Amino acid sequence: MEKLGLNEIRSRFLKFYESKDHYVGKSASLIPRNDKSILIINSGMAPLKAYFAGTETPPKKRMCTCQKCIRTGDIDNVGHTARHGTFFEMLGNFSFGDYFKKESLTWGIEFLTEHLGFTMDKLWATVYLDDEEAIGIWKSLGMNPDHIVRLGKEDNFWEIGLGPCGPDSEIFYDRGEEFGCGKPDCKPGCDCDRFLEIWNHVFTQFSKEEDGSYSDLSHPNIDTGMGLERMACVMQGTDSIFDVDTIKYILDGVVEKSGVAYHDGAEPTDVSIRIITDHLRAMTFMIADGIMPSNEGRGYVLRRLLRRAARHGKILGIKDTFLVELSNRVIEVSGEAYPELVEKKDYIQK
Ligand code: GLY
Repeated sequence: MEKLGLNEIRSRFLKFYESKDHYVGKSASLIPRNDKSILIINSGMAPLKAYFAGTETPPKKRMCTCQKCIRTGDIDNVGHTARHGTFFEMLGNFSFGDYFKKESLTWGIEFLTEHLGFTMDKLWATVYLDDEEAIGIWKSLGMNPDHIVRLGKEDNFWEIGLGPCGPDSEIFYDRGEEFGCGKPDCKPGCDCDRFLEIWNHVFTQFSKEEDGSYSDLSHPNIDTGMGLERMACVMQGTDSIFDVDTIKYILDGVVEKSGVAYHDGAEPTDVSIRIITDHLRAMTFMIADGIMPSNEGRGYVLRRLLRRAARHGKILGIKDTFLVELSNRVIEVSGEAYPELVEKKDYIQK
């Protein structure tokens, strides 16, 4: 597999879907619009809910985006594990009442095999319980029938906040036996580290209502999510998002500024270096979108990230201010894809 940079993967994805007649949308702001069910945009589909529900008209019935997202539910794991982060980018292709399962899964395999160099023997798929249609499509695409796994609502039903949701089918990458638990029935869904989920294709047919019930949407849709940092890990043959090219560049800045060596392990200083690296990305993007530190809501999330990053700077022995200086690295590596970072650089740093 070709070792591709994170920025290159994003650009190949968007170009591929543009060639399939998709409108290439800009990432929406991290501040949700007309959606009280979430504080901050946390998935590629979140800013597009009104298009799925049919209450707003999309620029085109086929769309693709790379969406900036923040999730802080697992904030205590950040820095302690290889792949937790509060900030991430989500690649997605979307159909608002246009194509459905067959095209979505077919193009998914075409992109992975012909544009990123995956081979079918390393790919597995999970499907929602009795989704025979998805199973038939996977087989027709050359997926080994032994690599198709049925899982329940917990694993193969996508919903986040209220609104559009539905059963899904996830694509997994087999990293190889050496990463596994060794159990003979090890497969996607197993707790071990062998199978990595790389792409979720959601068949968005329902809307979750405030009382917890589900109603049918007027038309079936497609919503997919491929975590860019995770895909970059696979393409760059690394276990940790902190070793991905663009993120490593920020981490190197933290190391340089603190003068503390990074061992890529569990030492407290390694954890602090990773926490600062992650939080710098989240904070820089949040401020660019107009979020200000405060005592409630989104502002409190930002304030918490700022304080945690500053505290870990102290743990590393950094005496002077450092977050402003290091935000330059975030802007440098992401500024081309997110011009608002460059345009608002002075504001962010102020
Ligand atoms: N919206 C589907 C996903 O992000 O997995």
